[in-house]
Amino acid sequence: MSAFYLTTPIYYVNARPHLGHAYTTIVADAMARWRRLAGDQVHFLTGTDEHGDKIAQAAAQAGVPPIRYAEEISAAFRETWRRLGITNDDFIRTTEPRHRRVVQAILQRLRDAGEIYLGRYGGHYCFGCERFYTEKEIVDGRCPDHQTPLTWIEEENYFFRMSKYQDWLVRHIGDHPGLIRPERYRNEILGFLRDPLQDLSISRPRRRLQWGIPLPFDDQYVTYVWFDALINYVSALDYPDGARFRTFWPVARHLIGKDILKPHAVYWPCMLKAAGIDVFRHLHVHGYWNIAGGKMSKSVGNVVEALALTEKYGNDAFRYFVMREMTFGLDADFSEEAFIGRLNADLANDLGNLVARATTLIAANGGVRRVPEAGELDDLERSIAERFARVVEGVEEAMSEFAFQRALARIWDLVAMLNGYVDATRPWEMARDGAARPRLERVLYVLAESLRFLGIVLAPFIPDAAARIRSALGQREAPRLADAVWGRLAPGTPVEKLSGLFPRVDAPRAEGAVAPDAGPATAPERAAAPEQAAAAAAGAAPPGPAGMATLADFQKIDLRVAEVVAAEAIPRSRKLLKLTVAVGDERRTVVAGIAEHYAPADLVGKKIVIVANLEPATLMGVESRGMLLAGSADGALAVLTPDRDLPPGARVK
Ligand code: MSP
Repeated sequence: MSAFYLTTPIYYVNARPHLGHAYTTIVADAMARWRRLAGDQVHFLTGTDEHGDKIAQAAAQAGVPPIRYAEEISAAFRETWRRLGITNDDFIRTTEPRHRRVVQAILQRLRDAGEIYLGRYGGHYCFGCERFYTEKEIVDGRCPDHQTPLTWIEEENYFFRMSKYQDWLVRHIGDHPGLIRPERYRNEILGFLRDPLQDLSISRPRRRLQWGIPLPFDDQYVTYVWFDALINYVSALDYPDGARFRTFWPVARHLIGKDILKPHAVYWPCMLKAAGIDVFRHLHVHGYWNIAGGKMSKSVGNVVEALALTEKYGNDAFRYFVMREMTFGLDADFSEEAFIGRLNADLANDLGNLVARATTLIAANGGVRRVPEAGELDDLERSIAERFARVVEGVEEAMSEFAFQRALARIWDLVAMLNGYVDATRPWEMARDGAARPRLERVLYVLAESLRFLGIVLAPFIPDAAARIRSALGQREAPRLADAVWGRLAPGTPVEKLSGLFPRVDAPRAEGAVAPDAGPATAPERAAAPEQAAAAAAGAAPPGPAGMATLADFQKIDLRVAEVVAAEAIPRSRKLLKLTVAVGDERRTVVAGIAEHYAPADLVGKKIVIVANLEPATLMGVESRGMLLAGSADGALAVLTPDRDLPPGARVK
């Protein structure tokens, strides 16, 4: 078993999590899941960067002590990652004693070795970036990043003798071609290193900034936030003696956005070298998400709340979109239209339809609902079987370069091939012809086995959908890449029909996902008025001027009788119940705002009426696939039930 250590940047706690943070964390998560699937021992680290001017200023503005401010935003990051299903193994905060201890130990060691000296420095300082800018970097007297005026600051500070590592660093990058990836960022750093490297100011005077880790050898100073933050990658492993440090540091990989290339590709290797610690193995650098072509960053202000989007469209759709849309290393544009385009084309049409068609055909096969025998494969089928190994190779190769978009494209090649296979073989016609039975069974085996394969290889990318696919095929064990080989599916395995894996979305939904700082308020709001929210989520148009619906309007609504098979309260919700209902052969979850009127036990066994084709909406973290009909007046509420017995699934007109 190989060890695999992957880190994200630790995020500043002066702003809530947004799309940019979510992207880095999601791709790191997909990578961690991929390596676990392959059998590696994975350690996946993320966390929050809590010291420095920026945080002190944000806290002062909010009128709270910096530690309280940091606590709150760090918790918001943890909560966001929990909701997004991120599988980090650890979460480091730079205000934790375990981190502070290591920062101070490294500072002391460098000071004792003469690597840190007290010097005088004057320079143009940007409070937003927390760094000095050289004359060459300044644009019209302003910060090139924030476009704000710079402040001239002159003071005594401690400096790290970084300049003395310049030649070594150039050689190290030359000797390790895979150190900084993709290539363009390696070239950028080599270009930067053509000019003389300056020593790095690693302290801030206490009289100007208190919010930081005190220097162990001079308590009039706190540590410069970047010097503090970079050390998280080893403090979280219990450097220097921890078992985790021994196992994982030799295989360290850092994943970052291009904005923080220089601290990671220049300061950090020099700091490690000076402290006698091996340099990390790889630095993987991704590009920037722009919104409508413009830059997006928390300090500029137009941020997208990651949660607002995932709540609307689901975690898997969001993960798929960001990984498929951005070519790793390059910038990409984010728009809700592009998101919906991919969701409909790749997830609802290609994958969702394949899964629905295949499981429906198998489930309908003579009412047996089991995987049939494979029999003798024909050429086309053999080429599908052989394709499995090629897909795994392609995904492996793409993932070794962090090329998530290419990994997904390889899997979707197979999805397209399988859809072509269904179209070409037309199994629904074979079902009517007794003589075609052996052929039909073979086709169904190929489809079932292919879905099992997809349920494994998709697990790192769209984990929830992949789990649903595996479960429809009776695969209950944790997925393993070793099982992504042809022929493992046992004939006789029970199969459940799985439709609506990714429902289509018609147009950007009304609530405005891309609104700046939409905030996590969406969830409670939706919970408070689930029916309206569900209607809004379905993109329901407001009534026309006359308030009349046409027959065609009404016919768009698919009303069905459903039988309640289970009901339970939703924790922390006063109004909502989670119902499991049978609609025909299918089981669904429907969330209904009736908890103040019905006890869960009163509903079990009742036949109710639901809107069956309403797009799913997530309410208090539960995905609702349908809406129960109820009437209300003067505070009383009654659930509609048919007044004679009808089978679940019966249409209501
Ligand atoms: N605290 C430092 C990092 C210290 S690491 C030792 C920091 N924090 S940050 O909160 O500003 O996060 C920066 C990171 O967030 C980027 O490197 C990137 O991973 C992610 N993104 C922030 N905005 C982004 C985009 N618009 N697009 C893509 N990712 C971006 O810098």
